[in-house]
Amino acid sequence: MGTAKLHTLSVKYLMSCKKLLQDTTGNLLVKKWKSIEKGDIVSIEDYMLPEVLRIQTEGFKNGSSEKLIKYSKNSRNIFYVVKSKDKIVGYCVYYLKPALSLKGFEKKSVISSIATDRNFRGKGFAERLLRGSIEEMKVNRISSVLLYVNINNLPAIQLYKKIGFRKVKQVKNICGQKENCYEMELRLI
Ligand SMILES: CC(C)(COP(=O)(O)OP(=O)(O)OC[C@H]1O[C@@H](n2cnc3c(N)ncnc32)[C@H](O)[C@@H]1OP(=O)(O)O)[C@@H](O)C(=O)NCCC(=O)NCCS
Repeated sequence: MGTAKLHTLSVKYLMSCKKLLQDTTGNLLVKKWKSIEKGDIVSIEDYMLPEVLRIQTEGFKNGSSEKLIKYSKNSRNIFYVVKSKDKIVGYCVYYLKPALSLKGFEKKSVISSIATDRNFRGKGFAERLLRGSIEEMKVNRISSVLLYVNINNLPAIQLYKKIGFRKVKQVKNICGQKENCYEMELRLI
């Protein structure tokens, strides 16, 4: 086997070890999660999933329902749903990304998906979801929240800017094949 191929395989192996370690640590941190009272924002329960999946399909051309189903089972503490009266009108789901940096061990979180029911947009539900969940992130010593947003998704970019997120860089192929998106970050600590 050539040196270049061996090098590629080693890098792939190290990357998958890093991912496994991050996933395992992330799962442990979610289990110890401290929840706070957030009014009409609650953690997902099984019966809410079909409605959440419907809102996802309405909001995204190619959203992965498998991913949301997986998060609803493994990470329900950080899978938030907002209600209007008793109707589910939006959701926001995160995953945790523990990281070692020069500052030491940091707990970051990433917004995997957020959407509001089409009939309830423009009424402040996404903003409330973000503000409520971010308060809980602070209580749990999350150092920063990250997200990826398509550069053409102006409503979402406006929303994130309003909350205080800043653009970090532009990246390709994260929001979809050949799509450009911004990585945005909100520092909490
Ligand atoms: C982006 C999305 C979640 C916003 O949800 P929402 O509940 O309508 O948003 P809110 O009513 O809480 O809006 C809060 C702020 O976001 C911004 N915003 C929301 N919709 C906007 C629009 N159509 N145009 C411009 N800014 C908008 C505004 O700054 C607004 O504050 P303001 O009302 O004081 O101007 C919603 O449009 C959606 O579900 N889109 C499809 C899925 C999606 O793109 N998700 C983001 C993926 S990264």
